[in-house]
Amino acid sequence: MSDKKIEIMSEFFDNRAETYDYHMIEKLDLNVFYNEIAKYIPVNRPNIEILDLGCGTGLELERVFNIYPDAEVTGVDLSSKMLDKLKEKYKDKVTQLNLVCESYFDIDYGTEIYDMVLSTYSLHHFGRELKLSLYRKIHSSLKTRGVYIEGDYTVKTMEEENSLIAEYEHIRNTNCIADGFYHFDIPFTAKTQTDLLGKAGFGEVDIVKQWDNATVFLCQKK
Ligand SMILES: C[S@@+](CC[C@H](N)C(=O)[O-])C[C@H]1O[C@@H](n2cnc3c(N)ncnc32)[C@H](O)[C@@H]1O
Repeated sequence: MSDKKIEIMSEFFDNRAETYDYHMIEKLDLNVFYNEIAKYIPVNRPNIEILDLGCGTGLELERVFNIYPDAEVTGVDLSSKMLDKLKEKYKDKVTQLNLVCESYFDIDYGTEIYDMVLSTYSLHHFGRELKLSLYRKIHSSLKTRGVYIEGDYTVKTMEEENSLIAEYEHIRNTNCIADGFYHFDIPFTAKTQTDLLGKAGFGEVDIVKQWDNATVFLCQKK
């Protein structure tokens, strides 16, 4: 079991904001991931309202704006530096963007507000209970026929998932820290994700794409 120190979430991403896009697109070659996400953005939704949880620098929003140039987007992120990068990138969208620099665990999303909720590469940092509470908020915030698209790191086996959770809990206990504030990667299996999304009220959860270390989930609110 490692005793590595972990960084406060907002500081972790503030410190990496400058090179974040280069890392994701040039080094990790993740355009293919964001192109995949774009395939599931619902079509024919005039005046679409979108909530992006952990929007970061807005890599996923490029695809959203290609499809819906006039989309109204609420983007939530803890890191002010990541949000500064997003603002620089989408200067022409300033009147359509409502950027909230807070934790998505701490804010109210409202009820039946959004046509689409989106979250990419952000939710693999939290334990099961916290994630379930977030999924419940996402489900309530969607309109009927609204969709939730999540693309994130996943692991293949329960052994990997349980071992990461055990390591995270050990670090949390050693450092007396609560779930959700520090940066530590605990991706779940696609099965755990699907079960949590089902528990949160999504009657239909489709795994629409799977790579070795990541999965795209498409959930429809009935
Ligand atoms: C790996 S980045 C992903 C950014 C973007 N969605 C993308 O795909 O490039 C994870 C983002 O989640 C944000 N984040 C992590 N925990 C958060 C929380 N509790 N509330 C809001 N944002 C959070 C981080 O600040 C960071 O910008």
